[in-house]
Amino acid sequence: MTLHFDTLFINANLATMNPQIVAPYGTITDAALGVKDGRIAWLGRRADIPNYEAGKIYDCENAWLTPGLVDCHTHLVFGGNRASEFELRLQGASYAKIAKSGGGIVSTVNATRKTSKDDLYRQAELRVCAMGKKGVTTIEIKSGYGLDIETEIKMLEVAQMLAAKNNMRIQKTFLGAHALPLEYKDRPDAYIDLVCHEILPEIARRKLADAVDGFCENIAFSVAQIRRVFEAAKKHGLAIKLHAEQLSNQGGAKLAAEFGALSADHLEYIDEAGVMAMAKAGTIAVLLPGAFYYLKETQKPPIDLFEKHGVPMALATDFNPGSSPISSPRLIMNMACTLFGLTPEQALTAITLNGARALGLDGETGSLAAGKSADIAIWKIQHPAELCYWVGDDDCHARVYQGKFMKNMDSKDG
Ligand code: NIG
Ligand code: FE
Repeated sequence: MTLHFDTLFINANLATMNPQIVAPYGTITDAALGVKDGRIAWLGRRADIPNYEAGKIYDCENAWLTPGLVDCHTHLVFGGNRASEFELRLQGASYAKIAKSGGGIVSTVNATRKTSKDDLYRQAELRVCAMGKKGVTTIEIKSGYGLDIETEIKMLEVAQMLAAKNNMRIQKTFLGAHALPLEYKDRPDAYIDLVCHEILPEIARRKLADAVDGFCENIAFSVAQIRRVFEAAKKHGLAIKLHAEQLSNQGGAKLAAEFGALSADHLEYIDEAGVMAMAKAGTIAVLLPGAFYYLKETQKPPIDLFEKHGVPMALATDFNPGSSPISSPRLIMNMACTLFGLTPEQALTAITLNGARALGLDGETGSLAAGKSADIAIWKIQHPAELCYWVGDDDCHARVYQGKFMKNMDSKDG
């Protein structure tokens, strides 16, 4: 039998992140990987390759191939920026205090409402391209800086346009319950009515979201209010995610688990009962060390409890203009190791396989395995731990998305 590949990558080391391969990182050295019709058709030791014909052969010169990185939590479509709040926080104002005095998320809402769709697109496209250079092949983008029907739709349409044009898989999440817009001041339940009865149904009708998210926090929405949003999401067949226990323990993670959420995110203040509920529901813990670092938080998420109860951990940039203006997944991996105590192998698993699980996409991407989409990052390194080790110089050498090969033009090597 002869296998037919469009492209065969040879002289590669594979960090497959496939848990069925027992070596650390699911490693296969001296490997080859064949791609056909955008999917991984074969991978293994080069010496074991069966008879094949290949349209193209790409010599990796001993580079490492990892799954394309999955950034499963971002807010990268937004207008304006919040550098002035950064200055205020450096002078001692807290994130919560700024939010309570009308800044924070609401100030980005004002800017996003005022920014045209084309301008939002142009700004977001630069961010997506920069992430592509850093080896990302899947990005989740949340709305939540509109908080009215027009702007929420505008943001999600921008996310949709980004997907079509940029060789990037984009998952869209509706985050209407992100903050209380000024026009609903002191009327949070009326705003939740608007989200549940008008905005969410329209977004579902237009197929603009894969999932629904909320911000369950004392500066945002209560468990009872988020419950209503989740009930509406269920009614419309949308997956569920939640910003939970970021600044205090509200019991949001338990609620998310009760609704079979794909993920609960942040989780610095989660308790053991919350972790156990997530374990039972199969809800992924998405850790966001960028926001922890940027807000100078001190309470760390309980990594030991996630490990004890077998809750898989994912990692994401949380790229947003307030709590995490950070577009580098490798900086986030480094922070996960240095600040939260993950091993480099856990960090890479978290930003590939478990990131895909947090989006319900692990059948499609997140590891190097036959049958999955050929989403690959190629790195000129000697060992995968280097992906967490070096800080600053974090572009990949080349990237493959659905079988399409893209070399970084300013790559220093090869
Ligand atoms: O994930 N926690 C709430 N939402 C974002 C921050 C958004 C913002 O500050 O603009 C987060 O950290
Ligand atoms: Fe977030």
